[in-house]
Amino acid sequence: MNINPFYYQGIFKIIQDQANHIIRLKEKPIIIAIDGHSSCGKSTLSKDLASVLSYRHIDTGAMYRAVTLAFLDGEVDIESEQEVIDSLKNIKVDFERIGDQNCTLLNGANIENQIRGLRVSRNVSEVAANSHVRRFLVQQQQMMGLQKAIVMDGRDIGTVVFPNAELKIFMTASIEIRAQRRYLEMKKKGATEDFDQIAANLAHRDHIDSTREDSPLLRAEDAKIIDTSDLTREDQLSLALNLAIKSI
Ligand code: DC
Repeated sequence: MNINPFYYQGIFKIIQDQANHIIRLKEKPIIIAIDGHSSCGKSTLSKDLASVLSYRHIDTGAMYRAVTLAFLDGEVDIESEQEVIDSLKNIKVDFERIGDQNCTLLNGANIENQIRGLRVSRNVSEVAANSHVRRFLVQQQQMMGLQKAIVMDGRDIGTVVFPNAELKIFMTASIEIRAQRRYLEMKKKGATEDFDQIAANLAHRDHIDSTREDSPLLRAEDAKIIDTSDLTREDQLSLALNLAIKSI
């Protein structure tokens, strides 16, 4: 998502207007669970919310992508239960702030750029549908939330990882808008995939994520819906912050 020149001004105003509530959310930290389809702005909103509230942001999609990269590089056969179980024993996923970027580490190596390309994107849904992988990562995610003060985004955060989260948000946007955003993001990084390839990959992942047996992408009954198709980045932050304030 592009930052328009008035973004920081907008954010500053939101922080100024909501200062007292933001202090309350810092003193009495909560868990904010953000779920939704691929490329509808979950990570951007989660990052913005976390930075305004001084909470930790965890992009759980990056964790599934890191495991996918490890499986691809290690030529793990996803159909072999034993290979999956053995391989997970040697996988450690962490996050580290490097410069102004929150980077994903796989066994200590920064793999942030590798996990965003089509090689991983094409395989991640199959890996994320594996119950051993899900159990392995969900356990780590639940540990990360013990201290609260966390914004976690993914597909099953409000339904499986933190069913008691104080605030659950379900984000969505039209497939055209999502593909366009992803296309621009990839182009900026120098990737060569065309729009149609990206749109097809998004539609394919939506299908697998929503129809898999283990923890399919579902809106928790008590999740608030944000459709980002026509919302600016500031609009989304303002909306979500108001929801967080209402939740305490
Ligand atoms: O958000 P993303 O596109 O980086 O997610 C990558 C894949 O991981 C996507 O196909 C859905 C899956 N995923 C999941 O199954 N559960 C999560 N909590 C997060 C992501």
